Formats: sequence, structure tokens, C-alpha cells
Amino acid sequence: MADVAIVGTGYVGLTTGAFLAHVGHRVTCADLDPAKIELLNGGDIPIVEPGLLELVREGVDGGRLRFIVGAASAAVNADFVFLCVQTPQGSDGAADLRYIEAAAREVAPALRSQSVVINKSTVPVGSTLVVERALSRSDVNVVSNPEFLREGSAVHDCFHPDRIVIGSEDHAAAIRVAELYESIKAPLLITDPASAETIKYASNAFLATKISFVNAIANVCEAVGADVREVVLGMGYDKRIGFEFLRPGPGWGGSCFPKDTKALVRIAEDAGYDFDLLKGVIAVNEEQKERITIKVVEAAGGSLQGTTVAAWGLTFKARTDDQRDSPALDIIRRLTALGASVRAYDPTVTDDLPGMEVCADPYAACEGAAVLVVLTEWDEFRWVDFGKCRAAMAGAALVDARNLLDPASVRRQGFAYTGVGRVS
Ligand code: UDX
Repeated sequence: MADVAIVGTGYVGLTTGAFLAHVGHRVTCADLDPAKIELLNGGDIPIVEPGLLELVREGVDGGRLRFIVGAASAAVNADFVFLCVQTPQGSDGAADLRYIEAAAREVAPALRSQSVVINKSTVPVGSTLVVERALSRSDVNVVSNPEFLREGSAVHDCFHPDRIVIGSEDHAAAIRVAELYESIKAPLLITDPASAETIKYASNAFLATKISFVNAIANVCEAVGADVREVVLGMGYDKRIGFEFLRPGPGWGGSCFPKDTKALVRIAEDAGYDFDLLKGVIAVNEEQKERITIKVVEAAGGSLQGTTVAAWGLTFKARTDDQRDSPALDIIRRLTALGASVRAYDPTVTDDLPGMEVCADPYAACEGAAVLVVLTEWDEFRWVDFGKCRAAMAGAALVDARNLLDPASVRRQGFAYTGVGRVS
């Protein structure tokens, strides 16, 4: 059992901390934000993440998980210090290392000799060195241990990772970090820091590439009269391709893919490689939001001036309350710029957002709308009474940007249905 400090209690830090407490370690999570720490100490969590609240409460009740303000106080007695602070995108596309350097400088004087600092934030290749320099402690090892948690299934992903990647110049330090995860059955890859850091970017860029690829194929399907769902089924049975991350939609968003793909383009550029393929992946993603916008315009009869659009789903995907880089919000901005008034509904949003009225339920969002557009794949949208929606609306057009609904059953309720990459 080890003493672990987590610096940065966002979704990665909080989930990792609660998980490590569950497997038996003594964990102290630190954050700069006193309000967040107060909320956590009060037995609540600041994000929507299935299973996380229970895991946090279990750790707190068992005396293995606590929350405090300030990184240095958390690091004082720790054998391991995880840096889980944000790495936002800087103005030039590169990741901004300001927070991670500040965190390293803050914990440096407090660190025990022979402790290990573990970088979990997504950072450009070479950042292990940046952290080492900021720490300036020759008796402390710095190890890269990228996270691959998906929002909405972060707890599940912690317990069932596809792999554990540890990058270190010091094999003994890497083994010590691996031991933190010893109860987890997953392939373990111990490698050098640059490779570990690249694995994270390459994985996210590859997944974004799969989605942009299937979105591009959906566009081809629309042009040639094929059905993308059948095409994906036929592709996915090939084990080299698989079924995962081939769901067409309004484009990828969230806190990782948009910033990590841009950062990788920049990392490559700085290293003298023009990553044209990845630039294309990003361009297809932008285009996809415009294509959904055009579908809504067409569904409204060619113009959105003076029309009301009902928009279901505001988060970047279902099972999270995260709106960062949400394609839904981007598309809504485009719709309002074209003259639409937007009435939105999302299970995690109660207050109005700029440029739209946020309604209390899906039916209220439909009132007076010419078009209903489904932007996030919340399961509950499948079970809505579409007859009631149709009756509340001024028009009968439905654009399903996630291919979530059954076209036949919504058509039976009088809707004109348009999906993505399918003609029927
Ligand atoms: C991602 C990575 O999956 C995770 O490993 C990494 O650590 C953090 O970034 P996350 O951002 O939580 O996780 O979401 P993810 O489930 O990967 O989805 C990203 C975006 O792609 C979402 O906007 C989602 O709606 C979209 N997506 C995903 C699709 O449009 N189609 C798909 O088939 C899959």
C-alpha cells in the first residue's frame, strides 16, 4: 500500500485517485479550487461520471481518500505524485505547459527523497524533461503514465484498461509505478518517456482518424445511395478494422481529440514533418459540422430565417455533462448565425446558454419548431413520445445527426427523417 498524491482533481485526477484508493492505496487529491475541495469533502462530485460518486464515497468512508487545497501539502508524505492538471491548447496550437510546470515547481520542495512524480496529463513529447527541470530534484524520478479514460466510462476504463503504458529512463521507477496497478489485468508496456508521450497522441489521433474516415464514408454513401450502417457492419467483421469508433455523427469533440490532434500536427511540424494526413482528419471534422447544419437548413425548406429549431443534446457526447468543444454547440452557433431561434434540451443542462433557450424536457424544446435535430446520442431520446413531439412542432422535419432513432417509427409519427450516411 502506497501513499499517493494527485495534483489536479479534474475528471482524470479524481477518477484515478478514487480508483487507487479502491485498490488499497492512501490517496490525497489536491486542487487549487477551494470550492471544488469543499464540495468533494461534502461527499459530492463536480462532474457527471457514472459510478464515480460511489467510488469516491467508498474511498472517503474507508479513510483512504481525502481532498485538500494545495499541491505541496498533498505531496509532503507521498511516495508517488500524479500530475493531472490541464494542458490547454496555446494560441499557436501547441499544448500550454504553464499549469504542469507550476504544479511541478509547487511540489518540488515538499517531495520525499526517492519519490516518483508521474505525469498523467497529455503533454508534448519531451515534457518529462520539462517536469524534471521544473522539479530540479535529482533524487526524484519523473515517469510518464498517459491516461486513456473516456468520459462517461472513466471508472470502467480505470478497472479494465486495454493497456498500461509507463515511460521512464529509470526501469526501477517504472516498476514501482507498475506495482500501483498490480491488481489490474492488462498488458503492461514499459518504454522510454518520448514513446509513452507519443503513444497518447498517436492513439487519440488514430481514433479521430477513424471517426473522420467513417464520416467521409457516410458522405460517399449519401452520394451513391449506400447505407453507412451496412457498410460499417461489413467492414467491422474484418478483425483488422473492427467495429469501434466507426459511428458517423456530427464530428468529434470533447476535451481531448480537438486539442490533441492540433497539438500533434504542431509537434510533427516542429520536428520537421508535415502531418498532412492528420490535417485532413481535422478538416473533415470541421466540414462534418457544416454538413449537419446544411441538412437542418434543407429540412427547414432552404432557409432558417425566422424559424425555430429544436436541438436535443448539448454535451460533446452522451453520459457526460462536458460541453467542451461540443459539436452540438458548434452546430447550434451555425444555426443561429443563419437566423434560427434554438430551443434546446439536454439531460445535464438546466440554465439557458448563450444564443439558445434551454428547456426542461424534450417536448418543451419542440414547441413551435420547424425542425428537430438530434445532436448527442443520449439514450433517453429513443424513448420519447414522438407523436407528442410532432404535435408540439410547427413542422415535421427531423435530422438525426447520430443515427440514434429508428426512422420507420418516427416516420409513423409523421416525421420526415434525415440521418447521416443513409438514404432511407
Ligand atoms: C477520448 C479517448 O477515447 C480517451 O482514450 C482519451 O484518454 C481521452 O479522449 P473522450 O474525449 O472522453 O475520450 O471521448 P470519446 O468517447 O473518445 O469520444 C470522442 C468524440 O468522438 C466524441 O465527440 C464522440 O461523440 C465522437 N465519436 C466517438 C464519434 O463521433 N463516433 C464514434 O464512433 C466514437
